[in-house]
Amino acid sequence: MRFADKVVLVTGAGSGIGRAVAHGFAREGADVIAAGRTLKTLEETAKTAEGGRAVAITVDVTDSASVARLINEIVERYGRLDVAVNNAGVFTAGAVADLPEREWTRVMEVNATGVFLAMKHEIAAMRASGGGVIVNVSSNIGAHRRIPGLSAYAASKAAVTALSRTAALECIGDGIRINTVSPGPHDTPMSLRPGETPADRAVRVRNEIPIGRVGGLDEITGTILWLASDDAGFAVGADIVVDGGAAA
Ligand SMILES: NC(=O)c1ccc[n+]([C@@H]2O[C@H](COP(=O)([O-])OP(=O)(O)OC[C@H]3O[C@@H](n4cnc5c(N)ncnc54)[C@H](OP(=O)(O)O)[C@@H]3O)[C@@H](O)[C@H]2O)c1
Repeated sequence: MRFADKVVLVTGAGSGIGRAVAHGFAREGADVIAAGRTLKTLEETAKTAEGGRAVAITVDVTDSASVARLINEIVERYGRLDVAVNNAGVFTAGAVADLPEREWTRVMEVNATGVFLAMKHEIAAMRASGGGVIVNVSSNIGAHRRIPGLSAYAASKAAVTALSRTAALECIGDGIRINTVSPGPHDTPMSLRPGETPADRAVRVRNEIPIGRVGGLDEITGTILWLASDDAGFAVGADIVVDGGAAA
């Protein structure tokens, strides 16, 4: 119960890694706010969380007013925000020469601007209540690995890593600890190539990833919860790669 009575926000909590992380915090006693754009999937996350203390609130992380509304609602309801996991993100494939410009803009807006706007409003709330913890979800593609055809995604995630480390330096004096997790392929639809089934993916990653498999949701959740916990009290501006050795 490392997060008993902590107020924890998880963005992108309606599916995949975000849902697993929201459930992990709820299991350890937190009041969890599951945020994303789709109320139905967020409500499913909240309904299936242990402890019955998870709620769903919609947000579009590309819209500053929407993020401000979310943070204000959390502070009004709970009095403070202790932990934020900025996990909302989108994937796109396309080489620099071929990628439609609108696709570049969409990916940068969600992955990079989205984390910027989330941190901006979260930091203000955490400063007001004397501190907090932020974990940003980046990717091993970006600061740690480059793969032809993943140009915009890599650029957006490298931005998350740099932004996160800079904010960590800016905020640790106020008692706000900021770190990044950079996952490799995990067991969600985002790691499937177009037309690929999970069985096809298993064959592909056996050759591509040194450990020979995709990561389990419990494995990435464990890293994120550890970084958010007091056990990681000395981790500031770290970027932990969890990718089965792909970027080693
Ligand atoms: N799965 C992997 O293999 C892998 C590897 C490396 C990094 N990651 C990163 O891990 C994070 C989670 O990925 P995942 O695999 O769990 O993918 P996912 O299931 O597609 O989850 C992404 C979530 O982000 C939300 N989202 C997208 N745009 C949003 C916006 N503008 N505002 C608010 N929420 C938004 C989506 O919900 P709505 O559409 O309902 O808003 C969705 O629930 C992402 O940042 C991803 O880049 C994943």
